[in-house]
Amino acid sequence: MEDRLVSSEADVEESSLEQSLRPQRLHQYIGQEKVKNNLAIFIEAARFRQETLDHVLLYGPPGLGKTTLATIIAHEMGVNIRTTSGPAIERPGDLAAILTALEPGDVLFIDEIHRLHRSVEEVLYPAMEDFCLDIVIGKGETARSVRLDLPPFTLVGATTRAGSLSAPLRDRFGVLSRLEYYTSEQLTSIVERTAEILEVKIEHQAALEIATRSRGTPRIANRLLRRVRDFAQVKGNGEITVENANYALELLQVDRLGLDHIDHKLLKGIIQKFKGGPVGLDTIAATIGEESHTIEDVYEPYLLQIGFLQRTPRGRIVTDLVYKHFHMEVPKE
Ligand code: ADE
Repeated sequence: MEDRLVSSEADVEESSLEQSLRPQRLHQYIGQEKVKNNLAIFIEAARFRQETLDHVLLYGPPGLGKTTLATIIAHEMGVNIRTTSGPAIERPGDLAAILTALEPGDVLFIDEIHRLHRSVEEVLYPAMEDFCLDIVIGKGETARSVRLDLPPFTLVGATTRAGSLSAPLRDRFGVLSRLEYYTSEQLTSIVERTAEILEVKIEHQAALEIATRSRGTPRIANRLLRRVRDFAQVKGNGEITVENANYALELLQVDRLGLDHIDHKLLKGIIQKFKGGPVGLDTIAATIGEESHTIEDVYEPYLLQIGFLQRTPRGRIVTDLVYKHFHMEVPKE
């Protein structure tokens, strides 16, 4: 597979290492202050009342720490976490098996919750609301419904697309938290924290350089750090300096703003083939050979955030900033 720094999911090879780098407690988690402060209060209140925490929906672009927060919630509540994902739960029976195996108080984490089948979602409604399962036994006229009690649990759902969640599902979450892109300062602290865990020395300026090229995303910052560390170990004395960080980042084709070759292909494609837009998402996707949903979920949010792309009813347009970034002449109106 092509080597990508930006991805919708943590790849398998890195996931166990990534897990060991993740903060375990709320006070270790850098950034997302609003989300963190709210969660701290809800967790303390639930613990005080000796109740389960209300169901939590975490939403926002990939790589911002939704899974990490779910794990932290479980730690802070002193309970176990069971992890699954929307596409992994194929049938209502799969979800019923997961729910009946929960221990009282457990956190059930469902990643990509917007991808749950409708029939599975319907099992989730009474489970979330009343901690019970409605099972239909038999068929036709003799069919009857039996209610099964479940242990109380907290559902933590994660999605990159809150808008794709059905209203009945969204309404059953008591806490809805939107994760935001991180600032360079926050990412610098994250890079320095990770470097300490990895026992690699890093200059502050080098951490800042990695941070500014990580498109507001800790997962990317930690990946870049590991790759830069490789360069520093092979080409230098192991310490990450600004010089070898810059050298490595150039070779990794990550530009000053953290844009990679796919961002470049996307933006230049709109300029060269569609005069800067507007152009529809599916047309762009077909032109550059990427999936529409990858562009929409993974690439586009950051480009919108930094003002490089705009969404209009007639399609996407690139802004003057893109022409300037590529040292191209800005077209006249
Ligand atoms: N590693 C990845 N994300 C982090 C965060 N938000 N805080 C601390 N370390 C992290």
